[in-house]
Amino acid sequence: MQGLKDKRILITGASSGIGAGMAKVLAREGCRLVLHYNRNQHGIEQTLKTVESLGAKAQVIQCDFKQLTQLTQFFNQAWLLFDGLDGLVNNAGIVTKSTSLKDAEGEQFAQTLAVNLQAPYQLSTAFAKACIKAKQPGVIVNNSSIHGQATCEWFSAYAASKMGLDAITKVQAVEWGKHGIRVNGLAPGVVPVERTDKILNQPEMAAKWCERMPAGRYGTTEEMGEATAYLLSDATQWMTGSVLTIDGGLIARGNYPVR
Ligand SMILES: NC(=O)c1ccc[n+]([C@@H]2O[C@H](COP(=O)([O-])OP(=O)(O)OC[C@H]3O[C@@H](n4cnc5c(N)ncnc54)[C@H](OP(=O)(O)O)[C@@H]3O)[C@@H](O)[C@H]2O)c1
Repeated sequence: MQGLKDKRILITGASSGIGAGMAKVLAREGCRLVLHYNRNQHGIEQTLKTVESLGAKAQVIQCDFKQLTQLTQFFNQAWLLFDGLDGLVNNAGIVTKSTSLKDAEGEQFAQTLAVNLQAPYQLSTAFAKACIKAKQPGVIVNNSSIHGQATCEWFSAYAASKMGLDAITKVQAVEWGKHGIRVNGLAPGVVPVERTDKILNQPEMAAKWCERMPAGRYGTTEEMGEATAYLLSDATQWMTGSVLTIDGGLIARGNYPVR
């Protein structure tokens, strides 16, 4: 894809799942990568091995995004690894499933919002400030979810965080357009990852999900990587403040009886 060769991209949450898929695709596109992880050291070593085998230069950096006070230091370190960054992919996230009644004190709610919403807010703002200071353009991709648009039981914390993330995508795109900084979101549907692979690929479960998707199958982490590469590339230079839904058509279909 045009304009990605040698670009310096920070991907948060690159130790498994969609983040690892993004890293693989961006490595193929010739990007230099800063790969963030929190606890999964084995996973990030695997991602590093994969991207290096594809010829990419990459560096690894750790941070727990629940510790919001550490984010400035984390970002400053990440910025310096390749003497600046051209792009930021806010991918790290926690998928909280809990009923509101079970989380009455809002402990899970607060943690979910810290990792999925406040951390991207702070990281994007640090990135924008650094780009403005360096007098350079920048591009941000926020990995949201279809739960930012249509949700269901168990997801009050998660959906609130993703709806909030979509809001930030739009507001920050508006605020930073004049500085040459683009901000877009990605809204994946159901993508099996290490965390969910076993359960989603049980035949009964797979049939239940896949019959609801016009595309008839789950998405893949590499497809999310391709979409991210597109949003980072010159092909979308006039695109900002948008959220790209990529879900095999799942939420295009309303909750009508099947005919
Ligand atoms: N898979 C799907 O179907 C799907 C659909 C829509 C949206 N998404 C979004 O895609 C993103 C990636 O999720 P995934 O499905 O690929 O799951 P995953 O494999 O569990 O990846 C989550 C990533 O986030 C990192 N992370 C979790 N808690 C963190 C914390 N406290 N501080 C810093 N990093 C943290 C993890 O790091 P460590 O493991 O190293 O701790 C890991 O790298 C999330 O934002 C999720 O909401 C996923």
